[in-house]
Amino acid sequence: MAARDPLARLPHHVTVVEVGPRDGLQNEHDVIATADKIRFLDRLSAAGFMEIEATSFVSPRAVPQLADAAEVMAGITRRVGVRYSALVPNAKGMERALAAGVDEVAIFTGASETFVRHNINTSIAGSIANFRPVVAMARAAGVRVRGYISTAFGCPYEGAVAPAAVARVAADLLALEVDELSIGDTIGVATPNQVVQVIAALRPDVELDRLALHFHDTRGTALANVLAALQLGIHIFDSSAGGLGGCPYAPGASGNLATEDLVYLLDGLGIETGVDLAGVVEASRLLAEVRGQAPASRYFAAATAGT
Ligand code: HMG
Ligand code: MG
Repeated sequence: MAARDPLARLPHHVTVVEVGPRDGLQNEHDVIATADKIRFLDRLSAAGFMEIEATSFVSPRAVPQLADAAEVMAGITRRVGVRYSALVPNAKGMERALAAGVDEVAIFTGASETFVRHNINTSIAGSIANFRPVVAMARAAGVRVRGYISTAFGCPYEGAVAPAAVARVAADLLALEVDELSIGDTIGVATPNQVVQVIAALRPDVELDRLALHFHDTRGTALANVLAALQLGIHIFDSSAGGLGGCPYAPGASGNLATEDLVYLLDGLGIETGVDLAGVVEASRLLAEVRGQAPASRYFAAATAGT
């Protein structure tokens, strides 16, 4: 009997949520000019993404790099059909995001107490309580809500995180009626077996259509994790053009999964994304010139070396 093809039942379509303008840029030490952020965003929308996390309306003291969120949102050319999202920590951020005309907001908490305390200066339970009025504001304005769970595979302060802890926070966010959950490997420690365990812990309560995975490639396991998740039917992945990024409150969290590397894998697997790989490279090239630094993306390096 022929061996069963382990890749036979992958999703036909994957939504790539481009988070570079937020998750990527938030970690940049040198100030990036607002005009360059706008050019970066416009190149990304030209590359075919339907979902782009454009900026965050957090405290400018916490993330000075994104203090120009309103100017960025006002300056971009909004492409029809593209959902422009922004991170929002509280009602003040929500008011700013709504005034800027975002299509979606992302609220964010975590699966480990110490990280959440560092990141948003409250407990996990406190964050859920704080988000209740924020979600109500989003609902009243007809704005979609994404809920991030950071440190779902490991915490920079506490180490191992139990899948059951992720499931508990997921249940709290689902009770707030978020539209989608994004499960984050904030410090890039996950391996595929953990992906299987965490998804197994979540699946009784979350439909596949509402579950995204957000990998960082700190230890080079992000694409292996994507493949494991695809085999379980996950079809929404976050990534960052060039592999830019990290979290200012997670030491050593450098390196989101690079969008180019993700799209190359998906293209090769015959999975449709609607994203033009050459267009992503152009967006990354622009930012590389601005930063004076080559991006981490392996595909970018290969494509620009002409191999
Ligand atoms: P706090 O200091 O406890 O809050 O910060 P506060 O309410 O006392 O406010 C302090 C000051 O900030 C006040 O100003 C507020 O008005 C102002 P002052 O009166 O002292 O002049 N402020 C704001 N200003 C503008 N917009 C706002 C806002 N909020 C307060 N929205 C707070 C608590 C949550 C606000 C803060 O800790 C914060 O903004 N944290 C965000 C940190 C952040 O952005 N982290 C990175 C994103 S998470 C991540 O990267 C992980 C993810 O990618 C997934 C993964 O990889 O796992 C999502
Ligand atoms: Mg992240």
